[in-house]
Amino acid sequence: MQAPDFLAKHAQSVEKSCLDTLNQRRDVVPARLFDAMLYSLLAGGKRVRPALLLSCFKACGGTDEQLAMPAAVSIEAMHTYSLIHDDLPCMDNDDLRRGKATCHKQFDEETAVLAADALQALSFELLTDIHTDADTRLTMIKDMGIAAGCQGMVGGQMMDILAENTQIDNVLEVERIHLHKTGELLRWSCEAGARLAGAKPQDFAACSRYGKAVGLLFQIADDILDTTASSEALGKSAGKDEAQNKATYVSVLGVQKARELADEMCELALQACDSLNGEAGKELRELALYILKRGQ
Ligand code: IPE
Ligand code: IPE
Ligand code: MG
Ligand code: MG
Ligand code: MG
Repeated sequence: MQAPDFLAKHAQSVEKSCLDTLNQRRDVVPARLFDAMLYSLLAGGKRVRPALLLSCFKACGGTDEQLAMPAAVSIEAMHTYSLIHDDLPCMDNDDLRRGKATCHKQFDEETAVLAADALQALSFELLTDIHTDADTRLTMIKDMGIAAGCQGMVGGQMMDILAENTQIDNVLEVERIHLHKTGELLRWSCEAGARLAGAKPQDFAACSRYGKAVGLLFQIADDILDTTASSEALGKSAGKDEAQNKATYVSVLGVQKARELADEMCELALQACDSLNGEAGKELRELALYILKRGQ
């Protein structure tokens, strides 16, 4: 699936900012910790969350992309921390991530745990520097805590681990896991972009609806790809969910029904874009269709 051109463009500027952000701290960070943070943060990756943030920012009338960039780096740091922990031997035990050795394979477990911890803290630090009014900043920081922590991603990862080997056959249970472990960070990205643009209430609501639909769509596509794509194409080991008896949309519904549900989620995301003015939601539409098509 060919990604839209603007995804690569956003990825380029986000990666440059990620590199600058780390380099500004190079002299005061133990070299091994720095190398591991840099290794994982700059390992490639689709940069979908920053793209969602920047596209919602534009869709809500934001113009100066540099205003949104620290938040884009912040969400990518938070996401990268979640991947490093997700890959640890005590979690999904993966050797391959973003086409390279996972952080604990390249370094060691101690370094990987600490690099992830440091990226999580950096994510919050970056939000405090955003050039916007103090209320917006505080709301974004608090909402990141909700989206990433026990009420969001970390809570979802706990549900994911507890659901292993439990023969879950209820799609609502899987939805609950996925909305937490993946959906919340995508929702945060969309809402943060809207907030930074000073969105009108109806535009903020549209971005929020879009973010929730795309959040679920993204993990349905990830579950499908785990069974249909090669490790080479994914840059991470395929076929892991079945091997580890994970509760996924594919384990509960099968690939065909999971694809139909992905279609429905994409439709909801596109409907949310319709309430944004004219051209404003064009990138958001393309992003939703790209995420859908990856899983087809
Ligand atoms: C992988 O996320 C983890 C999930 C939440 C499914 P991505 O598919 O966005 O991974 P990268 O950032 O492109 O490597
Ligand atoms: C992970 O879900 C979601 C995270 C919070 C990182 P997965 O375990 O399915 O992600 P992949 O397939 O390893 O990227
Ligand atoms: Mg996992
Ligand atoms: Mg995993
Ligand atoms: Mg997966």
